[in-house]
Amino acid sequence: MDHIKAIAFDLYGTLFDVHSVVARCDEQFPGRGREISTIWRQKQLEYTWLRSLMNRYVTFEQATEDALRFTCRHLRLDLDSEACKTLCEAYLRLQPFPEVPETLRELRRRGLKLAMLSNGSPHSIGAVVGNAGLRGEFDYLLSVDPVRVYKPDDRAYLLAEKAFGVGRSSILFVSSNAWDATGARYFGFPTCWINRSGSVFEEMGQTPDWQRGGLDEMLSLFDSGAAGR
Ligand code: LAC
Repeated sequence: MDHIKAIAFDLYGTLFDVHSVVARCDEQFPGRGREISTIWRQKQLEYTWLRSLMNRYVTFEQATEDALRFTCRHLRLDLDSEACKTLCEAYLRLQPFPEVPETLRELRRRGLKLAMLSNGSPHSIGAVVGNAGLRGEFDYLLSVDPVRVYKPDDRAYLLAEKAFGVGRSSILFVSSNAWDATGARYFGFPTCWINRSGSVFEEMGQTPDWQRGGLDEMLSLFDSGAAGR
């Protein structure tokens, strides 16, 4: 792994737990939090992909709000504007997975440059990272907003290559989202899939270079001698 100089991380679901909104959803709609959160996240992703296909970009916050409105209508839940605002704001206060802060610090100690590369808007990324007190761990917070197209489009991954100023083969891409790891691998990043839930990978013609059960397990990749799959 000596050739790896920098790491680009996905945000939602990789470093931060999207289901940390369940408690806030439960406050608004008792007993329905998990169901809302699951459908909300899936719809949010679909809306970003569909908007990229249609060339009708809206910010990630807008796609997130639209997905929440859909979810509540789908579940026949009455979402008033106050509840909508409260739940969308909860997305700015997601919790990092427990092993994340210390792992980021350790990677920096090992001399690696770190970036977030997310479909989130600059405001969302800054808020989520800042609220968790992790801003100082990143050299770059990269949003797809300037290119107005979402991952897994190549133009989104290119942002990390440009920011780091090194070739893509020297940048490790890390994501828990198998679709994102697939896109990154097609782009040409060496890719580590963080698979915390024992899921199966996508059937889209790529496999990750490495698979790990948590971010901390990724550190072994940088121990002397390259790690196996
Ligand atoms: C991200 C989401 C989509 O780009 O996982 O951070």
